[in-house]
Amino acid sequence: MIAAATDENIRNAAKIIAAGGLVAFPTETVYGLGADAMNPIAAAKIFEVKNRPFFDPLIVHIPDMSWVGRLAADIHARAAELMKAFWPGPLTIVVKKNGTVPDILTAGLDTVALRMPSHPVALALLRYAGTPVAAPSANPFGYLSPTTAGHVEAQLGGSIDMILDGGPCSVGIESTIIRVDVSGITLLRAGGTPVEAIESVAGKISTAENSPAPQAPGQLPYHYSPHTPVKIIEDISEAVQPDSGLLSLYRPEDVKKFRSVEVLSEKGDLTEAAAGFFNCLHNLDAAGCGIIYALKLPEEGLGRAIMERLRKAAAKPI
Ligand code: TXA
Ligand code: MG
Repeated sequence: MIAAATDENIRNAAKIIAAGGLVAFPTETVYGLGADAMNPIAAAKIFEVKNRPFFDPLIVHIPDMSWVGRLAADIHARAAELMKAFWPGPLTIVVKKNGTVPDILTAGLDTVALRMPSHPVALALLRYAGTPVAAPSANPFGYLSPTTAGHVEAQLGGSIDMILDGGPCSVGIESTIIRVDVSGITLLRAGGTPVEAIESVAGKISTAENSPAPQAPGQLPYHYSPHTPVKIIEDISEAVQPDSGLLSLYRPEDVKKFRSVEVLSEKGDLTEAAAGFFNCLHNLDAAGCGIIYALKLPEEGLGRAIMERLRKAAAKPI
């Protein structure tokens, strides 16, 4: 089921995609569950396997800029500028789509989310497949995203054709999603490209919270949730339930009261914290705790994206 990402296996994976199958593959952010984006039946299998509602559109992954012109209706100059600055890399850009993009991918919206990943295995797969690849994170809908091939195998192993193993994902959280249109640039999901980096190129951007109709995963009240309930705390003294787990940026001094502790970065580095974030939550979820306490992180750089995910995880009804 899991296949090392050798050139031969990547070519086989590309054949599976071209034939309408499903392949999980590594990207720099998280593992994706890929299907031929131009084949609506293949794309429908993604929704089925993930148990994903059809109103939640998919990101289309492309290997080079030629596909932008083939999938988008018209590209705003500011979108082109951001593609140039951040691709390949963890930034997804929502633009007006053209008539070739199947409606199932975009949940009937007139826009399409485009992403050029930087992971060499992902890029090779996209080139060999010769078609854009629709890929959500390779997890059951609403659950933690996978950052290793083992995470994918544990959740979806039985129901997909192949898992390409390219090792742990280096960024560790999903791409940042922005929409670019005549009204400007709107942040739809914080992610692997820090907002500060985008603003250094494009100037101040607005956030979807301010827009009347929410348009991204942020609109769902909860997401990215382990099976174990999550509670965000500001101080370790708030962790009062026995048999609990702790997720913390730094290593706290006294951790005896916890059943299991995961430290995101011994030196408090938020980029390192993002890289290990989902893996730490997978570990805590497997540890059999009654609750996972998560100590608040600073909301700057990738800390913003981590906190957005923690809030969604904590919003799951118990
Ligand atoms: O890093 C990533 O982006 C990963 C890897 C595999 O590339 N993919 C990923 O996909 O996180 P997914 O499906 O888990 O999250 C994509 C989100 C969807 O929840 C959807 O709301 C939003 O992207 N999206 C897709 N198309 C959109 C569109 N046309 N307008 C607004 N939001 C869109
Ligand atoms: Mg996802």
